[in-house]
Formats: sequence, C-alpha cells, structure tokens
Amino acid sequence: MSSQNIYILAIESSCDDTAAAVMHNGRILSNIVASQKIHEEYGGVVPELASRAHQQNIVPVVDQALKKAGISKAQLTAIAFTRGPGLMGSLLVGTSFAKSLAYGLDIPLIDVNHMQAHILAHFIEEEDFTKPPFPFLAMTISGGHTQIVKVNSYFDMEVIGETIDDAVGEAFDKSGKLLGLGYPAGPEIDKRARLGNPKAFQFTKPKVDGLNFSFSGLKTAILYFIQKQVKANSNFIEEHLNDICASIQYTIIGILTDKLKLATKQTGITHIAIGGGVSANSGIREALKKGEQKFGWTTYIPKFEYTTDNAAMIAIVGHLKYLEGNYADQSVMASARLKI
Ligand code: KG4
Ligand code: ZN
Repeated sequence: MSSQNIYILAIESSCDDTAAAVMHNGRILSNIVASQKIHEEYGGVVPELASRAHQQNIVPVVDQALKKAGISKAQLTAIAFTRGPGLMGSLLVGTSFAKSLAYGLDIPLIDVNHMQAHILAHFIEEEDFTKPPFPFLAMTISGGHTQIVKVNSYFDMEVIGETIDDAVGEAFDKSGKLLGLGYPAGPEIDKRARLGNPKAFQFTKPKVDGLNFSFSGLKTAILYFIQKQVKANSNFIEEHLNDICASIQYTIIGILTDKLKLATKQTGITHIAIGGGVSANSGIREALKKGEQKFGWTTYIPKFEYTTDNAAMIAIVGHLKYLEGNYADQSVMASARLKI
C-alpha cells in the first residue's frame, strides 16, 4: 500500500441495513451495521419502512463508525457510498447524506456499485486471508442477488449468469415461510437440514439455459408438495420438518453447484470467490470444499461480516477508486437498477 494515509468513510443503504465503515489504507478500522428488525413482522423487506429507518439510523451509525475508528471527520480523505442497485428510497438516504458530507468537508465523493462491492470485499486487507487471483469467478448469493461474474480485474467484470426471477436467499426464505418458519428462514433451514435426510423428498430442479438461474418454480413445487402432503396428514410438516429442510437445501445447493461446474467448464477458470449472506450456509460451504477435491476448484469466502450487506465492502471499492482518482460528480444520482 502507498505511504499516504487514506481514510475512507463508506456508507451503505441499498436495502434494509444501514451501514458505515472507516477504512485506513485498505484495512478496516470500524464496520457498523444497524439491521432493521421491523421487517421481520412482515416476513420480508417493506421498502417504505426501510427508507424511514435509514433516515433515522444514518447519522448515529456514521457517528459510531467514526468513534470506533478513533478518527474525526476532519481526517477523512473521501466519502464512498452505494449508488445502486437497490431500493430507490433506501439508496436516496445514503446518497444524499454522502453528497452533503463530502460537500461540507470539501473532499472527494466516490460512487460505488453494490454488486462490485460484494465481489471486491475479497480485497479488504486482512491477516491470514488469501485474495483470489485474476481472473476469477465470483458468485454472489443473498436475499437480493444471485449472480456469477467473470472478474478480469478490479473494474473489468462481466456478468455471465444471473437469476431470471427470485434470488437464492428468497428461495430459502419463501420456502421457510411455507413451513411456518420465521424471517429470514435461511439460517433455520440450514440448522434443521443438518439433522435431516437430504434425499427424503425430491424437488425437480428448474431447467434454465446456460448460466442463468430460476428459483420461483422451486417455491411453487414446494408449495404444491406441502399442500398435497398436509391434505393426507395434517401433521406432515411437524413430523418431517428436518427432512423437508434438508431436501430443499439439497436441491438449492444442486442448482448452484451445477451452474458453477458449467461456468468453470465454459471459462476454464477454477478460482471461485463467494459472497452474499447465503454463503454462510453450511451445506454450500461443504459442497464447495468437495468441489475443491473433485473438480480442482479453489474457493474463497471472506469473513462473514464482509459477505452480508455491509459498508466495509463499499469502503474497499472507495479506496481502490480513490487510488485511480475516479471520483463522482456532485450531480450523481442513486440508480436502483445500476448494472455491473
Ligand atoms: O446478504 P444478506 O444479509 O442480505 C441481502 O439479502 O442482501 O443475505 C440475507 C439472505 C437471507 O435470504 C437469508 O435467509 C440468507 O441470506 N441466509 C442464509 C443463511 N444465512 C443467511 N441462507 C441459507 N443458509 C444460511 N445459513
Ligand atoms: Zn447485497
């Protein structure tokens, strides 16, 4: 790293987490996330409520990030913020705040693409963490995203596969809802899957060409399956919950690994970097490890706090763009559908 002192304050507000982080020369000094509990009652993110909560949380979260980092606003080199993609109302809060703060402090403003940030989270300076070498494949899997990206260099990325409907995290969460589990259901399905038989029930995998994904059909298949079983035995869910969870998870992992196999075959690239909240899934981690032995993959998963929505990943992109002098203009606007 360079001999200058680069302090980046990063702000992330694309969905339902209000986050701020301070980075010094590529290393994280603080990484604060205020998760919005309000959405649990609704079984999913309510955009209008998310925007309001961001507005309430943003100043305290930034203040806490600066305090934890032990620096003052005057020491900041630049402000980085998530420009998109995400929920417009949520993005507007972070964008407007970042613009005002950069203007007030008279320092550079740096716009960040949230999907690039999930990938570049692998480049945060950390002890005992090997960074993926270029080119590599990045698979971002969360409640909002399912993408496979060919990463040639920091800012030369190509989306080679993505979902045509639901994200993989939604497949977990919506299946869990059908089973009466709380929101988000992913972690609970993971826990129960470890106690069940993954081959107890079969769900057909969707047929989607190439490297794209589809998860909405799976949710419908699970719905019909449960309705049919419950008709015959009203206690079916309670009696077979662990087996159902294991079977759903097994199907989802099969879908993801099939596409990864195809992606490595098509590109000849075997370095695979994983990001997004679903990367916490123990079954997915196991399948990736197996792939290392079976297919010669090398897999990379950052620290958990850098895989879910967070501002540390926005900070690393801010840092890299700062080094290139790639700043945003004060007229920059949030963009809900921003592409990689
Ligand atoms: O990255 P994230 O925190 O937020 C966004 O969606 O952007 O990801 C949350 C998603 C939820 O769908 C949640 O159910 C899922 O990640 N998730 C998991 C696990 N932990 C979180 N899914 C399966 N197994 C897990 N252990
Ligand atoms: Zn995300």
